[in-house]
Amino acid sequence: MYLESTSSDRSVGKRALAGKGGGLPEDSANSVRDSQLLGTYGRMLDRSRGGSMPENARLQLNGNTYELPVTVGTEGEHAVDISKLRDESGYITLDDGYSNTGSCKSTITFIDGERGILRYRGIPIEQLAEKSTFLETAWLLIYGELPTPQQLECWSALFTQYEMIHEGLYHHFDGFPAYGHPMAILSAMINADSCYEPEMIEVESPATFQRAAARLMSKIRTIAAAAYKTSIGQPIVYPKPHLDYCSNFLHMMFSIPFRDFEPDPDQVAALQLILILHADHEQNCSTSTVRMVASSGANLYASCAAGVCALWGPLHGGANAAVIEMLQRLHDNKVDLKGYIARVKEKDSKERLMGFGHRVYKNYDPRAKIIKEVADKVVGNLKRADPLLEIAKKLEDVALSDPYFVERKLYPNVDFYSGITLRAMGLPVNMFPVMFAMGRLPGWIANWKEVREVKSHLYRPRQVYIGKNARDYTPLEERRTELVSAVPELKDPVSEYSALS
Ligand code: CMC
Repeated sequence: MYLESTSSDRSVGKRALAGKGGGLPEDSANSVRDSQLLGTYGRMLDRSRGGSMPENARLQLNGNTYELPVTVGTEGEHAVDISKLRDESGYITLDDGYSNTGSCKSTITFIDGERGILRYRGIPIEQLAEKSTFLETAWLLIYGELPTPQQLECWSALFTQYEMIHEGLYHHFDGFPAYGHPMAILSAMINADSCYEPEMIEVESPATFQRAAARLMSKIRTIAAAAYKTSIGQPIVYPKPHLDYCSNFLHMMFSIPFRDFEPDPDQVAALQLILILHADHEQNCSTSTVRMVASSGANLYASCAAGVCALWGPLHGGANAAVIEMLQRLHDNKVDLKGYIARVKEKDSKERLMGFGHRVYKNYDPRAKIIKEVADKVVGNLKRADPLLEIAKKLEDVALSDPYFVERKLYPNVDFYSGITLRAMGLPVNMFPVMFAMGRLPGWIANWKEVREVKSHLYRPRQVYIGKNARDYTPLEERRTELVSAVPELKDPVSEYSALS
């Protein structure tokens, strides 16, 4: 098999190149620096600077040549379109974990992982973090432009209108055990909530969609806080219409009957910032899940509930909690940090340095840079220092001066310092992924809308089957243990099962 690309129009190449990362510097010193930063990809781009820009790729397979169109994104992202390859050749492509697969074209978020760039609808995350609000950012992600003052006013009013959940829904919380994980409760309750307003499920007009989006974003914080209150055995607190999004959430989390919680403005600002930084991140695991579910025609609530489940895992949105658990272990057991780093580097190590590394970023995650400053500020406001912040900083220094992390381009990601900030705000660790979900919701909604608008095909990847070839069914009496030895044997299945249940 052989894949090559044909050369074409120089101007397209220059445009694509200039677009990459918002404009590559033209002088040669910078070019060398960029090339080093980008590695092979950078060298490929440098060659295309010389005028060769791929138009079509040619794939040679078993003596046949297949022309594969090349798609170039607005930021110079290149992709070989293989969507017709199987029809034409009988071959599929194999990319376990999709690390080299573009699953869609999207206009929502741009990431340049080599340069540590993140933009929502073209606007750099740093500017949004400094100037925007969570509600405004959500509108931007969902509708593609920043809202006008009037649009923002109506949007906020919808959040207030929908901040309460149906009284019937509160009874559902009684059905969960106190130790139920808030992510399980959140996912279940998002679907349960959809039952209370069926017209929001169909979303037949843009106006209904807007209501459904605001309703879901508004209610998720009421559900999240109610899940927390249930888990600690306190009465559920109702939202207050005059409070902004983040203050209202903190009120529902920390007020108790006859004693209102007065959030510190720095705390509110930090929460808002964390939500903005998490609001979207192109085709990550949970967003791809939302798109996949949406592609079947499933409604917004079902799709976002699936997103919550995908987010829960420790390699994704559960990493913020896993970071704190790791730091706490290191602190409690007075673990030598160099020794710990040596352990995570071992080939067969079951441990990873949580909050480090990213599928897309091969540079410092821009969100982590911002959150690190916020962590300093919020922790600085506490009456006493948080030893976990000190450990995190030392761990970062040790890792970033270690060739293992340098060579693999493993830097702190968004989760490395977000947990410390959330902890300083008094949020319990099992709520950290819930905060991630609240933040990511606008991104999920925007992606759900995009799938609907482009009338996307059903997402349905293929596979390369490597299992048994066709064989006959064996009657029960002929089956022998050695033939099913891969299955772990329970000595006394009935009692072992009841011990678990
Ligand atoms: N600690 C130690 N080694 C690591 C780590 C880490 N955190 N991350 C990657 N590596 C090593 C990995 O062992 C592998 O080494 P080798 O080439 O010798 O086999 C190499 O780096 C590449 O790792 P990978 O698992 O193939 O990379 P990936 O792109 O599949 O993984 C990741 C990305 C985020 C799952 C991974 O870096 C990781 O597990 N990090 C810790 C969990 C974490 O912080 N997750 C939050 C991600 S950011 C929030 C979000 O967007 O969800």
